[in-house]
Amino acid sequence: MTERILGIETSCDETSAAVLAVTGAEAELSSLVILSQDVHAVFGGVVPELASRAHLRTIGPVIDRALAEAGVGLHGLDGITVTAGPGLVGALLVGVMYGKTLALSLDRPLLGVHHLEGHLFAPTLETPGLRPPFVALLVSGGHTMLLDVPAWGEYRLLGQTRDDAAGEAFDKVGMLLGLGYPGGPAIERLAASGRPGRYDLPRPMLRELDRPGPGRYEFSFSGLKTAVLRAARSAADPAAIRADLARGFQDSVVEVLVEKTAHAAESLGYPAVTLGGGVACNRTLVAAMRERLDGAARVYAASNRLNTDNAAMIAAAGAWRLARGERSGWELEPRADLPFPGLTSSSALQESPA
Ligand code: KG4
Ligand code: ZN
Repeated sequence: MTERILGIETSCDETSAAVLAVTGAEAELSSLVILSQDVHAVFGGVVPELASRAHLRTIGPVIDRALAEAGVGLHGLDGITVTAGPGLVGALLVGVMYGKTLALSLDRPLLGVHHLEGHLFAPTLETPGLRPPFVALLVSGGHTMLLDVPAWGEYRLLGQTRDDAAGEAFDKVGMLLGLGYPGGPAIERLAASGRPGRYDLPRPMLRELDRPGPGRYEFSFSGLKTAVLRAARSAADPAAIRADLARGFQDSVVEVLVEKTAHAAESLGYPAVTLGGGVACNRTLVAAMRERLDGAARVYAASNRLNTDNAAMIAAAGAWRLARGERSGWELEPRADLPFPGLTSSSALQESPA
C-alpha cells in the first residue's frame, strides 16, 4: 500500500511543502515546492520577524500547490510531517501550527521532525537504495557535524564546530568580500577564477586529526574568517584579490572537511559517505570528497534543490519515523534547540589510533 506523506518546512527563510509517496521502504517524491524569501538579502542575513510573516502569508498557497502538483487532495494524505526545530521559533511556529491543524482536522498522524535529520535523509530521495552504515557530514548555515551512522535513528556524534558553522563562515566571508548574502554560492563562483595557493590561509584543527583526542573530528572556522579579513584589509586594491581570497578560503574549508570526513570513514571501514545541508551544494567540496575517497568509499550528495532547506527531506525523515509507529501529540511545540533524536557522543573513535 502506498502512503502519501506531506512534509512542511519553515525553519528559516524557505517556505516549503512536499508530498512523498511511500511504499514499504521505497519513497518517491510526488511534488516539492520551495519558496525562498529574498527580502533578507537586503539585510545581509535572515530577519526573524520578517521570515515568520512571510511564512504566514505563503504557507497556505505553497501547500496547496504541492498537493495540486502531486494530484492529491487533503483527504488523500496519510500523514503530516513538519520541522519542529532547530531553527527560528517564530518561523517554525507557522509550519507546526499549520501541520497540527491539518492533522487534527483530517484525523491523520502528525510527526515533528528534526531539521538536521531531514538533511541526513535528503540523499535517499535520489538514491533509493542508500542505507547506513555511513559517515555523514552535515554542513549548513547553522551546523557542522560529523556523524557515524551505523543505522537510521542511531547517530554517533564524532565532532562538530567549536564556533562558526561552515555555511556561516561562507556567509561571513561573502559579506566581507562584498558578495552579499548568502555567501556560499557567490564564493564558489568567484573561487573558480581564483589562483590556488595565492594566500596561505590556515587549515583550522587539521593537525588534531593525527592526535587522538576530542579535537580530532572537531572544526573551527572563525579564525579562518579573521585571516581572510586581515588579508583583505592589507590589500592595496581589495577588489583585485577577491577571487584569489575566495579560492584560498574555499580550499581551506574543503580540505579540512574532506580530510576529517575521509579519515572517519576509513577508520570505521564504511563503504559510504553522505553529505547534507546547504554547503553540500558546493560542487568543489563534493568533487574533492569523491577524489579523496576514490576506491575506498562511495560519496553521496543530493542535488542542490534537496540540499538546501526543503520539505521533501522532512517528509523522508518523518516517513521513516511514522512507519516505526512514532507520533507527535497535539502538544507538539517548536524548539530553537530541539535535540537531535538518537544522537550520542562518540569518544571511542577519537581515542583510538587510526
Ligand atoms: O541547509 P541550509 O539551506 O540552511 C540551514 O539549515 O542553515 O544552508 C544554508 C547555507 C548558507 O550558509 C549558504 O551560504 C550555504 O548553505 N551554501 C553554500 C553553497 N550553497 C549554499 N556554501 C558553499 N557553497 C555553496 N555552493
Ligand atoms: Zn538546513
